[in-house]
Amino acid sequence: MLRPFFAICVLLLAGLLSGCQAPAGAQAANATTPPAPTTPAAATTEVPTLPPPQPVTATPSPTSTPSPTATATGTATITPSPSPTATPIGPCTERVPTDDLLTLVTRTYPLSRNYTPGDLVAILPYFPMGVTLGYPTEVRQVMLQPLITIVEAMQSDGLAPFIISGYRSYSAQAIARQKWESKYPAWVDQISAIPGTSEHQLGTTVDFGSPELPDIVGEPDIQFHTYFYMTREGIWLEEHAHEYGFTLSYPRDTLELTGFYYEPWHYRYVGVEMATMLKEQGITLTQYLLETQPIPCIPTPEP
Ligand code: DAL
Ligand code: ZN
Repeated sequence: MLRPFFAICVLLLAGLLSGCQAPAGAQAANATTPPAPTTPAAATTEVPTLPPPQPVTATPSPTSTPSPTATATGTATITPSPSPTATPIGPCTERVPTDDLLTLVTRTYPLSRNYTPGDLVAILPYFPMGVTLGYPTEVRQVMLQPLITIVEAMQSDGLAPFIISGYRSYSAQAIARQKWESKYPAWVDQISAIPGTSEHQLGTTVDFGSPELPDIVGEPDIQFHTYFYMTREGIWLEEHAHEYGFTLSYPRDTLELTGFYYEPWHYRYVGVEMATMLKEQGITLTQYLLETQPIPCIPTPEP
């Protein structure tokens, strides 16, 4: 059964993108057409630090068999034994995560506005325009190769995924949030994260897109919509993303736990081992972390 809401995406003022959802009836009347994406000069001149660019083939062989090679090279660790009696840490003035891939980010446990991952890398040099659509997306270096690998795997299966959004700074998230709040004030809390509470600030989360979406939705410019789950790219990701270390952060019917509506396009890199465990257990990373890890500190409101 489909949820009675829709999802749309717009190009943000800063050239970033934010995937958002809206309730039924609000989508067609209020959807805006994103301006044509542009590639900033900085992105075209930037020299990638690691690894060397490995452009994804634009004409993949649909008969080749994907062979996942991505491995978790971050510091993700799986703690098999739940520790529900763990003592909360805190309070604290701000949460600045380490490089661990498993940082909990929720409304209760926000990130510091000052947190920026130290290893962000622009992805434009590593993908053809057909994948990035020219959007100046960044991700943490630790997930760059896994991202390249999963895109190549999808292309090898005859798909044409887009990478529409990656890292979003605290301020970029604030812009996104304001935009959606002005459009859908009644739904914004389930659509767009309050600055500091978006997994996109971690730099390990991406939003995928599909060229099939406009036809399915009936909106030529639509980029994010709940119906992404019906696209071939969405179906593939649902089935295979964990094999490449990616986990769906906001599955359907997890609003109560995650605080957000179903976002079938929003995948977070957590490493193959963790993503596979989550898939097998049918739980989200948020649930796993809340149930098994020490409770993070809760930042006191900043003055
Ligand atoms: N749309 C997701 C929840 C975000 O704003 O991060
Ligand atoms: Zn997202």
